[in-house]
Amino acid sequence: MDALDAILSRRSIRKYTTEPVTDEEIDFLLQAAMAAPSSGNARPWHFIVIRNREKLDEIARNHPYAGMLPQAQAAIMVCADEMLENHPGRWPQDCAAATENILLAAHAQGLGAVWIGLYPEVERNVFISKLFDLPKTVHPLSIVALGKPNEKKLPPHRFKPERIHLEKW
Ligand SMILES: Cc1cc2nc3c(=O)[nH]c(=O)nc-3n(C[C@H](O)[C@H](O)[C@H](O)COP(=O)(O)O)c2cc1C
Repeated sequence: MDALDAILSRRSIRKYTTEPVTDEEIDFLLQAAMAAPSSGNARPWHFIVIRNREKLDEIARNHPYAGMLPQAQAAIMVCADEMLENHPGRWPQDCAAATENILLAAHAQGLGAVWIGLYPEVERNVFISKLFDLPKTVHPLSIVALGKPNEKKLPPHRFKPERIHLEKW
């Protein structure tokens, strides 16, 4: 699948088969994540690979929109260490770029994935920081749930010419 096909056909997949996600597939996703652009090229991100069933279930119990995690075969949490930033406050944008790269790379290799939001919800931050023993300077942005797709979705058609402005609003 080329890059444009992946971008135009990616959808959030929340139903998964019981087939495992391999270490090689996860490695490819992490390579894609770390290839993302970042402010000042600081790359402040860290990634936690989660395969532990109890942890996946625990997150689902404490997050209102993570009901797919008990079915997921793995997940990747995207977070950032503010100490690694060149321009303070840019980490959410850096981590969002990395998260999108993971979603696209997952889709390109036939995996289903969905972005689970953490930032900027304070309660989710507190819960996740405790569950994963995050240092004080590390902030979680998202979790990407992963598995072999067990649902099919049509490509989105969201193009709106009226949202495009030429030269001025
Ligand atoms: C910042 C952000 C947070 C999101 N949080 C969640 C979430 O917590 N749970 C979930 O199921 N989907 C979440 N999503 C996925 C969106 O619901 C999804 O991208 C949107 O409905 C469009 O559908 P699509 O991804 O299939 O194109 C999130 C997406 C973004 C960008």
